[in-house]
Amino acid sequence: MHDTLLLFGATGDLSQRYLFPSLQHLLRDRLLPPEFRVIAVGRSEYDDGGFQAWLRERLANGDSRDDAALEDLLRRTRYHALDLNDADAMAAALSQYADRPSVSYLSTPPDLFAPATRGLKAAGLLEGESRLVLEKPIGHDLASAREINATLKAALDESRIFRIDHYLGKAPVQNLLALRFGNTLMEAVWHNRWIESVDIMVAETAGVDGREGYYAHYGALRDMVQNHMLQLLALIAMEPPSALDADSIRDEKRKVLRSLRPMTVADVAQDSVRGRYADGVVDGQAVRGFKHDSDVETFVALRAYIDNWRWSGVPFRLVTGKRMPSRATEVLVSFKPVSHWVFERPSKERARHNRLRMRLQPEETIELGLMGSLAAPEWGATELQPMSLDLSMSPAPKRRIAYERLLVDALKGDQTLFVRDDEVEAAWQWIDSISDAWRKAGTPAQPYPAGSWGPAAAEAFLPATLSGNGHRK
Ligand code: BG6
Repeated sequence: MHDTLLLFGATGDLSQRYLFPSLQHLLRDRLLPPEFRVIAVGRSEYDDGGFQAWLRERLANGDSRDDAALEDLLRRTRYHALDLNDADAMAAALSQYADRPSVSYLSTPPDLFAPATRGLKAAGLLEGESRLVLEKPIGHDLASAREINATLKAALDESRIFRIDHYLGKAPVQNLLALRFGNTLMEAVWHNRWIESVDIMVAETAGVDGREGYYAHYGALRDMVQNHMLQLLALIAMEPPSALDADSIRDEKRKVLRSLRPMTVADVAQDSVRGRYADGVVDGQAVRGFKHDSDVETFVALRAYIDNWRWSGVPFRLVTGKRMPSRATEVLVSFKPVSHWVFERPSKERARHNRLRMRLQPEETIELGLMGSLAAPEWGATELQPMSLDLSMSPAPKRRIAYERLLVDALKGDQTLFVRDDEVEAAWQWIDSISDAWRKAGTPAQPYPAGSWGPAAAEAFLPATLSGNGHRK
């Protein structure tokens, strides 16, 4: 396991909220090597002591308060103020850390990936066994993603490039692989003969506050669908890999992404909705709408089709939005009704209850909806009733920040939960078809009140487990 982590973008939001708290937890749990050190790099002018004081203040008030681990982390952390566009300055300041293999983590906007890679190369930090981790998004479209990938490859081999998608570090996402490929029952019905539809929903109550500049350039399609939601879709839809190694899994995910049917101008009206939140109320608090000159969306609903043997004809509905009434990340797999219905009640239509529902957030649960029987003497017939089989793990495993697992894997060199160049490009190819079709069709981002489930036109895209009045069943 490598023991030197260079963290670029160290004073940014992601570092404060997730990366440093993750490191703190990992030190507390003794999951990092004894000589572990962090070289933090940011734009703000701090010396080591100033940065440590700043970080102590940020972390001491967080929910990951743990004095001993916090002091341990600070003791191991050095800071450099650097401009990542200045390769000479990077080389001068950082070459001292090339004494042993390291992991450089670029938690920066994608336009800094290429210059920072050049600076790291000049500092000797991409040689030998050293690795490079990049935060999403990888580019803004297919062309920019290709350019970034080409720059990376000129500097180091793909086997040492780790593209993060933090959804892959979430425990229930890994459980999806276990459920699918560790059970005869699941895989036997996992195709278009028995599955009617798949819903993937990522609803957030948070808005874009504090990230307006980034968001106005990306929007929900590029910020959420291109990466997190398509990775979930790929794991749900992929063929069984022949082994669980990184490339076997990534080969299968890439095939799914390449089988996504491109969106055309003719499909847009029926298969997509764009929205943007206006003033409203979330969690009892009045919130302002997202106002910006760009016509960017904060809500997307899509109906996607995977044109292959297994999934032909099965709609995958993808819905994500900011400022929704509640936080809910879930996957819902709805099975087709039985072919011949012999019961009187309820009717076959009402008995469509065979569903696998995986909630990733806020709580982690897995339920299988089945029909069971209840004696109903007053009718003299068997009444069927929806029942729910709770497949959640008990006792619940310790909850960890997704980045904890991913940081350990990057330090160890395990690429299984990281995204390969061709997957990223296949995902962008499909996303570009949607943004092009929206542009050509002039599809506007329709306003929706903050605290609602998106524009009215999105109603047909919402999962069946979401009732019309916005309360979750
Ligand atoms: C990030 C997006 O990648 O994921 C954010 O940039 C989003 O806009 C976040 O809020 C959601 O992550 P999670 O783990 O809270 O669902």
